[in-house]
Formats: sequence, C-alpha cells, structure tokens
Amino acid sequence: MSKLLTSFHLKGITLKNRVVMSPMCQYSAEDGFANDWHFIHYGSRAVGGCGTIIQEATAVSPEGRISHGDLGIWKDEHIEKLTQIVKFVEKHGAVAGIQLAHAGRKASCALPQNGGKQLIEGANSWTTVSASAIPFEANENPPIALSKEAIKGVIEDFRNAALRSLKVGYKVLEIHAAHGYLIHQFLSPLSNHRTDEYGGSFENRTRFLLEIVDVLISLLGEKHSLWVRISATDWVEGGWNIEDSVELSKLLKDKGVDVIDVSTGGNIAHAKIPVGPSYQVPFSKRIKRETGIITGAVGLITDAKQAENLLNASKCDLIFLGRELLRNPQFVLNAAKELGDTVANYPVQYLRGYK
Ligand code: FNR
Repeated sequence: MSKLLTSFHLKGITLKNRVVMSPMCQYSAEDGFANDWHFIHYGSRAVGGCGTIIQEATAVSPEGRISHGDLGIWKDEHIEKLTQIVKFVEKHGAVAGIQLAHAGRKASCALPQNGGKQLIEGANSWTTVSASAIPFEANENPPIALSKEAIKGVIEDFRNAALRSLKVGYKVLEIHAAHGYLIHQFLSPLSNHRTDEYGGSFENRTRFLLEIVDVLISLLGEKHSLWVRISATDWVEGGWNIEDSVELSKLLKDKGVDVIDVSTGGNIAHAKIPVGPSYQVPFSKRIKRETGIITGAVGLITDAKQAENLLNASKCDLIFLGRELLRNPQFVLNAAKELGDTVANYPVQYLRGYK
C-alpha cells in the first residue's frame, strides 16, 4: 500500500488518504455567497478521491475579501449553501475544511480575469487595512493601519466565522496566515512597522496570529482540527524567514495547532522566487524535522510518484495539490491505479471506467 493512499489520523478525525485539495479562490461568489459553481467544483474533487478538501480563502468580513467575487462567511445567510456542499463532500468520503481569510492590504482587487489589479474607486472597491500603512505595490493607495481596537474587531470576525464554520460542519479550520494577506502582513518586518505590542519583535509580530489561534482553539473540540497555512519565507533579505517559521511552528504546536501547511512568498511584490517542482518542500521538511509538527507540502507537486517519494522521505505528512486538481479532478483515482492501490469510496457510478 502506498503512503499516499494510506489513511491518516488527526485527533478524532480520519483522513482517508494523504491528498489535500489546496485552497484555491474561484472568484465566483456574489456578496460572499457560494453557488452551484462551488458545489460542482468541490463535489467533483470529493468524487475524485481527495482525502481532504480545503475550501478556498473564505473572507471573515466583506473588507477581508481579495475581490468582490470571494467566498465569505461573515453572515449567517452564507451557511445554507456551504452546508449543502459540505454534506456532499462528506458523503463521498472526504473531510471538509475551510480556509478562513482576511486579505488586508491585498484586498479590493479586480477579478483575475479582469486583470486582478487593486481597485482604487468604483462599486467593487473599498479601503484596505493592514498592520502598517504600507501598500503592497508602490502605485496603490496605502492601507489604513489597524488600531488596537480594530485588531480586536478582526479577531472577533475570525471567531464568528469559526462559529459559523462549525455550524456548517467543517472538520478542519485552516487559518490563512500566508501569501502576503493580513496575518502575514503582521508577521513580516517588511510590512509591519508598528511600534505597539503588535509590531517590532518576533513576539509582537506573531501576537495577532497567536491571539486568533487562541480564540479558535477554545471553540474546537476533539472532532475538529486547526491548521495554519504560512509562507515559510518572504524570499527577501530582511523579511520573514525559515528560522522565524520554525519558531512560530513550535508556538503553534504548543497551542494545539495540528498541521502547518507550508507555502512561501506573496508579501513582497518584487521577490525573486525559484519556482520549480517541489520547490517549497525543503521548508516543510525543516519545520517537520525541527518541531515534530505535522506538515503539508504544496507547490508544483503534480504526479503520484513524486508525492509518494516526498512522503517516504519524511519531507511532509500531507500532500496539498492545487493546479493539478484543476486539470485533473480525478487525480487520486488515477494515482491509486498508478501506485497499484485501491481507493476508499470509489464512486460506484464510475466503476465500469476503472480497469
Ligand atoms: C491559489 N492558491 C491559494 N492559496 C491559498 O492559500 N488560498 C487561496 O484561496 C488560494 N487561491 C488560489 C487560486 C488559484 C486559482 C490558484 C492556482 C492558487 C495557492 C494554491 O493553494 C497553491 O498553494 C499553489 O497553487 C501552489 O500549488 P500547486 O498549484 O503548484 O499545486
């Protein structure tokens, strides 16, 4: 039996295999509401055998959206359609997770198909917030630096979003602390120039994330799992780096976070990133080795044998797949065949196509 297709136990949750659908914004929502696009999109990856599905970055407040097309969970009305999706995903044997997000200074953008640039004016634009009044790109309006009271408000938004997530039925909650969004903006000394207790030292820059973690941990029981996606490096001298990520992971582990989902970059527009197959995996390996926490690797992992080798070499515990699952929703069913394994919950409707 391959490792990739072997189940994985996390507290009271069993993931039927090690493949996780990486969160990927669909920019297809209106007023934060999920619709049939999301139902089919997530449903087909569940039918395709993914062990876990992490729903795209889902905004905890309207101003926390990257664009006006982002999914949201800032009001109770969002719960109904999300529940329909989660029930279907679970019926097909996948564990359903949600990525809770706030885009901070990278909010108020056009849809990617319309260029994705930040919108300064018009119906689909709004004022952005961040740790400090430093824009992501020099030509953008500076965000408003959050006051301490406003920080508490955002933490409350995460709390309420988490409570709604539990009502929907997600088993995994993932905090989006990566890719240059609000929490990462606090972590990195390049985007956080605050002089209060949320800026300056490592301890101060990590405070915002750790306070969110404390709140979420207090809401979750044994049947739920808290994951955090980080960017392990800014890929820029003087920025957030892997040593910081190892220290942060130790703190997160002590607080009860189960999984670090290890990505990189996104906070500095001019960063030079050496993109290639498995290019982010060394960061996962180091965090796993130096902290003992469960890690997920992500980034240009595109085939079953590559994924299996990473698991066998103890570089990660879980494999997050992004774009490969956009190309191939049935990656896991095909991987099982390639690795000579069976797959749990093979859809009976498709058995005649499986030889
Ligand atoms: C992404 N990615 C992403 N990451 C994240 O943490 N939250 C998100 O909502 C999104 N949205 C998103 C949309 C789309 C269309 C893509 C392609 C990517 C990043 C994604 O989860 C993954 O980390 C990267 O795509 C790298 O993995 P792959 O695609 O090389 O497997």
